[in-house]
Amino acid sequence: MTLTPERTDELAALAAPRVTFPDTVAFRGFFAPVRIEADVHDLEVEGEIPRDLDGAFYRAAADAQYPPSHADDIYINGDGMITMVRIADGHADLKTRFVRTERFTRERAARRSLFGAYRNPFTDDPSVAGIDDGNANTAVVWHAGKLLALKEAARPYELDPVTLETKGIYDFHGRLTSRTFTAHPKIDPETGEMFAFAYNSSGRPDTDVVLFDISATGDITQEQRFRAPYSSMMHDWLVTRDHLIFTFSPMVCDWERMKDEPQYFMWDPPKGTHVAVIPRDEGVAGIRWFSSDLVMETHSLNAWSHGNTVTADHFIADSGWFSQFPKTTVGPLREAPPFAHRWTLDLSKGSDSWDNATATYDKTRLFDHPGDMPRVDPRILMSKNRHSWIGSLDLGLGPMPDFGPMGPPFNCLVHLDDEAGVRTRYYPGADSAPEEPVFVPKGPDAAEGEGYLISVVSRRLLNRNDIVILDALDLGAGPLATLKVPFRLRYAFHGTWVPGSDLQRL
Ligand SMILES: [Fe+2]
Repeated sequence: MTLTPERTDELAALAAPRVTFPDTVAFRGFFAPVRIEADVHDLEVEGEIPRDLDGAFYRAAADAQYPPSHADDIYINGDGMITMVRIADGHADLKTRFVRTERFTRERAARRSLFGAYRNPFTDDPSVAGIDDGNANTAVVWHAGKLLALKEAARPYELDPVTLETKGIYDFHGRLTSRTFTAHPKIDPETGEMFAFAYNSSGRPDTDVVLFDISATGDITQEQRFRAPYSSMMHDWLVTRDHLIFTFSPMVCDWERMKDEPQYFMWDPPKGTHVAVIPRDEGVAGIRWFSSDLVMETHSLNAWSHGNTVTADHFIADSGWFSQFPKTTVGPLREAPPFAHRWTLDLSKGSDSWDNATATYDKTRLFDHPGDMPRVDPRILMSKNRHSWIGSLDLGLGPMPDFGPMGPPFNCLVHLDDEAGVRTRYYPGADSAPEEPVFVPKGPDAAEGEGYLISVVSRRLLNRNDIVILDALDLGAGPLATLKVPFRLRYAFHGTWVPGSDLQRL
């Protein structure tokens, strides 16, 4: 018998362990892996899908193909599973597909996990040394006619927007110099440019942050680098018409420590929080640094510049992300929930280096209840917005669904109106939790906020999901339409909407 590489894989697969997921919060009950690649033609609909809603809703989830090699593996280390709901003419068709990453393909052949703890190659099986560990599970973005599945630890994967077939790693025509790429790029609604960054861009913990300007046609037109105070989680950021804003928080990582400690990020309070503002026209040469209380940004709503001042609306927590990275440098700590905050930064007071920055920012809390996963009308991004929508947890609404592996769930969606002060809520019921909402304008000429909000809602007791379509300016009226998914979808992170006109041009 000749022992070809294929034959070796086959023999290894025969020796693979049986598939049994650990009995932990990340892998049991409503949060157990789903692993279903489905096609459901014509979802059952309650209510009426608006006839002017034509396009596709996509979302990315982490859905482990195989039991983890470490029993205490974290939720965000699962394989990318993409949901697509094509909506047109009052009907909705659903499709779910795993992203065929290199990691997924290798593990499928072996019938077991080969990659170990999140981003820690010292815990990987030797057979995958040097293989890209990206799992494309965090966000889906549509830009320049490409549908990209993103994970901040690796390069994007391109998907076919109609079939969800994986086309492969996407490197922007060979111009992507980093081994990583943010899951939260920002698309300028006026120019069509996409702004992106990469941290730990060498693939290992480092302090080089790379900035990319990507043209409306999908070409990297500018790349710049600047030095971070330390290597740390840089999950989201803010972009205005004139500035880029980064909040550095001490969820740090260290290559040497990873040899003995599988956990990739560790909250290290003495390193402090630092804020950087970079002018879009001048670039990193004009960077201004600010001091900050010890906080962490979870997700951004929106930001805008006015003269020498920047206003930044984002979710801020007083602690690191302990539900996924519980060990800290100072012992056990309790995770603090994020709240929506407005920071106002006077750029004339910023410093040219983080270690001599003394000026801070004015801050106000925008909403009394904790929340996250915000959205604004994408046509307003980078300019002053009036409307925003967030997931929130209001204990006054009723019993809270059980905690999941990511901590407490949302129990409502909230509309914040920055001018009228009107706030309306969608409350899906006692056993239910909505996910990040996606906003769809009614049409290109509709006023800001005039459109629909789409959200996947978990129905815990029924072990399945609904997808609700709401009037974005009247959440309290309840869904215009409820699309009934006949099985459970894995809880997801971020999604997007692609207009039908874009899909028809393919
Ligand atoms: Fe995110």
